[in-house]
Amino acid sequence: MILSIESSCDDSAIAITEIATKKLLFHKKISQELEHSVYGGVVPELAARLHAEALPKILEECKPYFKELKAVAVTSSPGLTVTLIEGVVMAKAISIALDIPIIGVNHLIGHIYSLFIEKETQFPLTVLLVSGGHTQVMEVKNLQEIKTIAKSMDDSFGESFDKVAKMMNLGYPGGPLIQELAKGGDRKRYNFTVPLHQSPLIAFSYSGLKNSVRLAIEAANEDDFKDIAASFEHIATAHIIQKLKKYFKAVPPKTFAIVGGASANLYLRSQIEELLKPYKAGLLLSELKYCSDNAAMIGRVGVEMYEKGMFSSLDELEVCPKSVI
Ligand code: KG4
Ligand code: ZN
Repeated sequence: MILSIESSCDDSAIAITEIATKKLLFHKKISQELEHSVYGGVVPELAARLHAEALPKILEECKPYFKELKAVAVTSSPGLTVTLIEGVVMAKAISIALDIPIIGVNHLIGHIYSLFIEKETQFPLTVLLVSGGHTQVMEVKNLQEIKTIAKSMDDSFGESFDKVAKMMNLGYPGGPLIQELAKGGDRKRYNFTVPLHQSPLIAFSYSGLKNSVRLAIEAANEDDFKDIAASFEHIATAHIIQKLKKYFKAVPPKTFAIVGGASANLYLRSQIEELLKPYKAGLLLSELKYCSDNAAMIGRVGVEMYEKGMFSSLDELEVCPKSVI
């Protein structure tokens, strides 16, 4: 079995995965949404302190599995430095105490492998990762061959939902709150500009849209918020659809996947389903409970890396806040 730890942002999570069967034997996550909600976003130092309290509590429940562990996998990049450290320090302690190897896992690859929890992998894939930290399109051949096609130049898709929700004083995380508010709203009422719509670049940008929404909120009263939310969600999604359309002209999709916390967005899912129809491309989605950060996806990558002998050395494994893919 592999014990896996996730602490890259505001979720403390530990999982136990059986290597031979990929079965998830244990998974527990303690989220910090309530604690960060008052600030309208994640406060890194507060998050680190909460990980330091939560992770040992969850680990206590994993003790019955200790004798069976063959390795410990931990998210080591990308993420918030101070919160990544909490997980990596715990993983190093486990590695030393139980004399088992350590595996440093890239969180973005973790999101890709959220598609394969308790399943076999299915490659090649074109993947859209939409989370609080990333808006990224990747061509994934396998664990070691991942090519990034497009990234966000500033804010990410999920982050823009968090910021718009904060401007409306709705709380955190903003994605589900905006999605809910948008349900009763008019998507066409606010004619926000689709970011980069005249640019030939295949890239994403959300800071301009966020500022347009800010101006609309300032000029509106609360009755208008649902229409602003609906129009924002529509344009934020249209931006992704436009860029994917452009990319698909050059490289038609065969199997497409959406992963990351914001892949739970139902409007985005429905628009991508429409986009894929003419290509007759398959669509893979993670189970809703594994879209947001969790340790099961880190464990699933851990199994793959264990089988390939991709271990880290205890001295060299360091946290890295920036992504390398
Ligand atoms: O993957 P994740 O849990 O953490 C990161 O790796 O960043 O993603 C969290 C992000 C937050 O920005 C949250 O607002 C967004 O995913 N999110 C959504 C939805 N549910 C979560 N964004 C849009 N619509 C949703 N339904
Ligand atoms: Zn994530």
